[in-house]
Amino acid sequence: MNELRILLSREQIAARVAEMGATITRDFAGEAIIFVGVLKGAAIFLSDLARQVHLDATFDFIGVSSYGTRSDRQEGWDSSGEVRLTKDVDQKMAGRNILLVEDILDTGLTITYLKRMLMAHQPKTLRIAALLDKPSRRKLPIEADYLGFTIPDEFVVGYGLDYAEQYRNLPDICVLPAPKAR
Ligand code: IMP
Ligand code: MG
Repeated sequence: MNELRILLSREQIAARVAEMGATITRDFAGEAIIFVGVLKGAAIFLSDLARQVHLDATFDFIGVSSYGTRSDRQEGWDSSGEVRLTKDVDQKMAGRNILLVEDILDTGLTITYLKRMLMAHQPKTLRIAALLDKPSRRKLPIEADYLGFTIPDEFVVGYGLDYAEQYRNLPDICVLPAPKAR
């Protein structure tokens, strides 16, 4: 049986997400925004964050996959650096305030690719909201405009984050022990 250790409790997450929502509400006062969630990991974060943002808002979702299967990306895993779009946005992005919502910034490859792609649509603004950040893993120089928590280089699951599609529905964010320790 996997021993999951809680890194961030549901209470800690909720408190931080509320703070992030208040900041976003203040920063975009008088404007409308579009939340663009990165499937599937950001779905839960987006749904909580959006309810803490008191502005006119719409939702959209974008899908990506990375070469190198992501199911075996625990210890020693690295993406090959290629990101591929599996689902494009549905709405028009030109002239809009886009908030790109991601579960975690790791190497930074995914969000760098998505930012470049969305910028080509000429939005009014494009900012990044990420719940988690593992800065020690970064390969490309990109940061979130709104960040929940900086965490150490450990593989985490729950609150939308998966390991081989499992654990997304855990209410807390937990560390999944490395295979040899399990
Ligand atoms: P990046 O392109 O390397 O920044 O990877 C970002 C994506 O990798 C995230 O959207 C997650 O889907 C996934 N990822 C990175 N670290 C973790 C983790 O610790 N747990 C679960 N998924 C992760
Ligand atoms: Mg993801």
